[in-house]
Amino acid sequence: VAGHFWSPQLHIYVPFPKCVISLLLQIPDDEKGYKLDLFCVPKHYEEDLDQVIIPHGLIMDRTERLARDIVRDMGGHHIVALCVLKGGYTFFADLLDYIKALNQNSDKSVPLTVDFIRLKSYCNDQSTNIVKVIGGDELSTLTGKNVLIVEDIVETGRTMETLLSLLSECNPKMVKVVSLLVKRTPRSSGYRPDYIGFEVPDSFLVGYALDYNEYFRDLSHICILNENAKEKYKV
Ligand code: IMP
Ligand code: MG
Repeated sequence: VAGHFWSPQLHIYVPFPKCVISLLLQIPDDEKGYKLDLFCVPKHYEEDLDQVIIPHGLIMDRTERLARDIVRDMGGHHIVALCVLKGGYTFFADLLDYIKALNQNSDKSVPLTVDFIRLKSYCNDQSTNIVKVIGGDELSTLTGKNVLIVEDIVETGRTMETLLSLLSECNPKMVKVVSLLVKRTPRSSGYRPDYIGFEVPDSFLVGYALDYNEYFRDLSHICILNENAKEKYKV
């Protein structure tokens, strides 16, 4: 249900409070998407995908606007962009390109530095309850900084809640989260990022660095994975 989240206590969908509604582009549950033949898709994935749900060009256009909103809100002070690997890397690179373009074409600009963290919570198409933090710099370098966490997709919200609680121990000046996608799902904890690219139906999505057991990161468009492919690439 668009603009609502599932309340495990009340067993109903309740609307998000006004203060946490950010502008986003909603892809409806009955979105038919686009036939694969209309776009360029790697030959090795043709049989694995049902349809293109978000073409690459639309991702770029929406990302450009997210960059503008972020600079407007965070542009007063040094920004540390923290990429959540691996799924966030394409979005991170494209978003930062747009932020850089704003920085070099306006009278005001802020230093932008980058950092990377690796989290893992998925096996096949299921979120596991354990969120593993692998690698990354010492989080203590983020003390006093404006931190922008860049994530690919929020589903249950558990990954982000775990990272946010780790970060809060380092006392950053400000923490904002931008996620390209947020899934409408009854499994959501109710957590919402500060900036959202698209709200998407509860299907397993791949492409634009989103993976299924490491496959499909080399696909530009965001697509729905079909059931055969889930079997084919299962571990
Ligand atoms: P959460 O902790 O349930 O919010 O899951 C977030 C993480 O799960 C994301 O960072 C992704 O890595 C992964 N994930 C969730 N849904 C999908 C999907 O549809 N495709 C690919 N990865 C996903
Ligand atoms: Mg991720």
